[in-house]
Amino acid sequence: MKKVLVAGGAGYIGSHTVKELRRAGFKPVVFDNLSSGHRDAAGGAELIEGDLRDPDLIGRLLKEGGFSAVLHFASLIQVGESFVDPRKYYEHNLRTSLNLLGAALDAGVRVFIFSSSAAVYGLPRETPIREDHPLDPVNPYGRTKAMIEQVLRDYDRAYGLKHVSLRYFNAAGADPDGELGERHHPETHLIPNVLRAAAGDGSILGVFGTDFPTADGTAVRDYIHVTDLASAHVLALRRLLDGGSSEVINLGTNRGYSVREVIAAAEKATGRRVPREDRPRREGDPPILLASKEKAERVLGWRLRFSDLGTILETAWAWHLKESGERKRPGGGEAGR
Ligand code: UFG
Repeated sequence: MKKVLVAGGAGYIGSHTVKELRRAGFKPVVFDNLSSGHRDAAGGAELIEGDLRDPDLIGRLLKEGGFSAVLHFASLIQVGESFVDPRKYYEHNLRTSLNLLGAALDAGVRVFIFSSSAAVYGLPRETPIREDHPLDPVNPYGRTKAMIEQVLRDYDRAYGLKHVSLRYFNAAGADPDGELGERHHPETHLIPNVLRAAAGDGSILGVFGTDFPTADGTAVRDYIHVTDLASAHVLALRRLLDGGSSEVINLGTNRGYSVREVIAAAEKATGRRVPREDRPRREGDPPILLASKEKAERVLGWRLRFSDLGTILETAWAWHLKESGERKRPGGGEAGR
């Protein structure tokens, strides 16, 4: 059974991928500092609590661990915060990645899967976006992702580090078995915020921007179910372990929905009304982000299973109900988030 290190494996996308890795017969070991991940999200996988900013710890772990590959999910992800505190993003996202890559090289591990983002494209010149679209990130978060992709290319050329950079579009939804879901604090993403408002927790959904050049004036995004994202990691890993070449691959559906369309679909999925109000645009939000998925299908043999908007919303809603029910139970609190 191949052992793989999953940095950030207790987070949203990482934890769903750990589940798919186990299902596919791998032995994932989760490495996470639990700053935004959750202890219980590691599922039945071994969890090593530690920080990627500690190069000695990660160096020892990789040298002694007998790992065949590294998957790197650990990252700060808030675009807005990255404008306000770019130092945090450069220091954190770059340093952690360089430490992890260095440790992998020192330990002779030459297979690496990297969580990149559609944010590397910036304001797209054409959609759907193909992988050869020029990179021009418009926020520090996206710039850290583009920089790490470049480091990976250089390390491949010099040291033979085989890697796949997976550029996620909008990850959404929850584990169809109801075991895992999205738990960001604070939550900035559209779908969980829509569902919170639908649940009647007192929040009003802000619709950020109603004057975009789209059919209804709100921004269009390509929502991809987190379990479909997870299965792409397993395919990418197998490809590299079988000797495949390094690649950069979009993970999206090639189908976009506006904020208003998401709200309407959420009202249908939940049977509740979503209280909302129009607000100004958020800084740096592109009007439309839409992935070409042709390469993921061709190179990885990837097929979408859960990414229609109805399934995304139903699984996210089931998770929301489970989570909020647990919080309300006596002693439920926020412990073990
Ligand atoms: N939105 C709202 N109200 C909210 C939250 C979001 O109207 O309360 C809007 C946003 O303005 C955007 C759309 O809903 O138009 C989706 O917003 P998200 O925050 O859910 O996702 P983003 O597209 O902004 O961000 C995602 C990833 C980032 C990544 C970015 C660019 O979460 O990590 O795509 O690729 F950087």
